[in-house]
Amino acid sequence: MSERYREVYETWEHDPEAFWATAAEGIDWFKPASEVFSPSEGVYGRWFAGAETNTCHNCIDRHIDAGRGEQTAVIYDSPASGTKRIYSYNDVLAEVKAIAAVLKNHGIGKGDRVIIYMPMIPEAVFSMLACARLGAVHSVVFGGFAAHELATRIDDCEAKAVISASCGLEPGRVVAYKPLLDHAIDMAKTKPAYCFILQRDQLHAPLRYEHGDVDFAHAIEVEKAQGTEIACTPVGATDPLYILYTSGTTGQPKGVVRDNGGHMVALAWTMKHIYGVKPGEVFWAASDIGWVVGHSYIVYGPLLAGNATVIFEGKPVGTPDAGTFWRVCAEHDVKALFTAPTAFRAIRREDPDAEHIRKYDLKGLRTLFLAGERADPETIKWAERHLKIPVVDHWWQTETGWAIAANPVGLGLLPVKYGSPAVPMPGYRIEILDDAGHTVPSGTLGNLVVKLPLPPGCLVTFWNADERFRSSCLDEFPGYYKTADAGMVDEDGYVFVMARTDDIINCAGHRLSTGAMEEVCAMHPDVAECAVIGIADELKGQIPCGFLVLKNNVSRDFSAIQREVVQLVRDEIGPVAAFKTVMKVERLPKTRSGKILRGTMQKIADGMPWKMPATIDDPAILDEISVVLKQNGIAAN
Ligand code: COA
Ligand code: AMP
Repeated sequence: MSERYREVYETWEHDPEAFWATAAEGIDWFKPASEVFSPSEGVYGRWFAGAETNTCHNCIDRHIDAGRGEQTAVIYDSPASGTKRIYSYNDVLAEVKAIAAVLKNHGIGKGDRVIIYMPMIPEAVFSMLACARLGAVHSVVFGGFAAHELATRIDDCEAKAVISASCGLEPGRVVAYKPLLDHAIDMAKTKPAYCFILQRDQLHAPLRYEHGDVDFAHAIEVEKAQGTEIACTPVGATDPLYILYTSGTTGQPKGVVRDNGGHMVALAWTMKHIYGVKPGEVFWAASDIGWVVGHSYIVYGPLLAGNATVIFEGKPVGTPDAGTFWRVCAEHDVKALFTAPTAFRAIRREDPDAEHIRKYDLKGLRTLFLAGERADPETIKWAERHLKIPVVDHWWQTETGWAIAANPVGLGLLPVKYGSPAVPMPGYRIEILDDAGHTVPSGTLGNLVVKLPLPPGCLVTFWNADERFRSSCLDEFPGYYKTADAGMVDEDGYVFVMARTDDIINCAGHRLSTGAMEEVCAMHPDVAECAVIGIADELKGQIPCGFLVLKNNVSRDFSAIQREVVQLVRDEIGPVAAFKTVMKVERLPKTRSGKILRGTMQKIADGMPWKMPATIDDPAILDEISVVLKQNGIAAN
């Protein structure tokens, strides 16, 4: 194992506070911290309490102050709209100042919450940075979520304003955002004072000026013309930078809160040590700003480290073909590419012999990073074989904001073990506990937990819900953060992440709650009971599969009910739920205490070995499930 990794990990273990204090030297502080770590503050302690700083200053202004204003900061490459634009750090500052001025003129200031519901366009990133500049707290909502999900988020964070666009561009269709936004606001109890709408050429949205709609582009132009100067507002290191809602086990999403100080320290450290990129180089996270990968590695990480980042509005396939990733890498001289394994599976399916890869000059591309779901060895090997560069799997979550385990390229690549995201990063002491909280021997499967305190950059709590954070993440294994992933650590210290221990599934690299889908299915008037599980899918990793028990008196054609339930989930949660597989069953398998045996159903659907649960109420029901799955063409055993 690389001496450098071992040495760095041991330095952290020996004195975590000294380790993070050294890392913090890479960040500009307006006022230093009174303590590196304050164990008595917050839910499990707080990093850099007492310090004042500003994330926007660290992402933009200080690079310009250091003489790098002309360097490329943002590359917008949109096969979806046929647009490419390059922004230097100076350009980004001008855009961000203008947006900050627009927001400030509409009364947005420190601590106010602003929802950003936008496609992958530069204005989305500039809006995030403008909020950071003012000390306002942004909450980005992924464009594939429908009105109800948006309304839940508007209400939970009591948003003062929404920044949105007239439309998003999905292959073959223009997604009108404004009707979704209007519907969400109609549903929400909180009525944001303003909606800033960026009109795109593909679709103009009718604006309701009397309801606080603002033509965003026009307002920005006015501020640019006036050259309004907006300085960075000093904020506490422990003040929130953003809230990012993520799927929980119920329909109520969890608002992961990230602070300013610890977040910057951690991300800046990762750019150098995990991703191994130098200032000035191009880093591309082919994700979406609606997800944590987008927050950390499209926006904040690369800009904190003085890299150029790529905002890509397109898909790995179909925009226009499976060579689009390679075209972007070659054209912009991308040094490190970060995406989800599902994107590679999609590319491989269309271009199994990697003919597109051979068309482009990819000499600049040094490393491919994968995360978001388990990286299957076949996908990794295919990428290694054709790209001829290291392929690095790393494991993290919305909650942690950066990698818990990785193969740290910047510290020297460690030997790869297929199926493992390699070793714990400094800041994370990973242990495997059985359900009773006892440590299990190496190589044994159990609950993956992280010893508290969590390192800088991880969530500090859920928005307005300390108790929910404690009860869902900290209480079950006292002294540890429960990742809700099951896995093991081998004798070399490599971590293996096998499956979630809760009702979360990973579909096309998107984190989805089957519990939330069950809540929606249950809303259908003909449905008496239901269960949604994730079943294996060659492309997306997992897809949701719904089992419906209909009410006794229902005699309608099931295909109509099926269509309505699918549409209901699409309308309530959004197309991103990818909920298309629904079947009718007479009964659901349950334990004697009434708990639905989702885990066993999943094993049957995936054709995995399974054991009859000792607590099952009626074993015959599992046979019925197996028959229905087979009838629906799903490999059941
Ligand atoms: N706005 C509106 N709708 C969206 C959307 C968005 N931002 N993103 C996805 N959708 C829609 C899709 O159009 C699709 O709609 P459809 O049912 O009408 O076809 C639906 O949501 C499901 O999307 P998805 O599951 O992503 O399937 P897909 O076929 O569109 O794409 C992949 C499949 C694998 C190409 C794509 O999911 C992908 O690139 N995944 C990588 C994900 C990723 O980067 N994750 C972040 C972790 S690094
Ligand atoms: P998200 O919060 O959307 O980033 O999803 C986090 C979840 O995705 C984790 O809890 C894991 O279940 C899964 N995940 C992310 N990265 C990996 C990985 N490299 N290997 C296995 N599972 C992963």
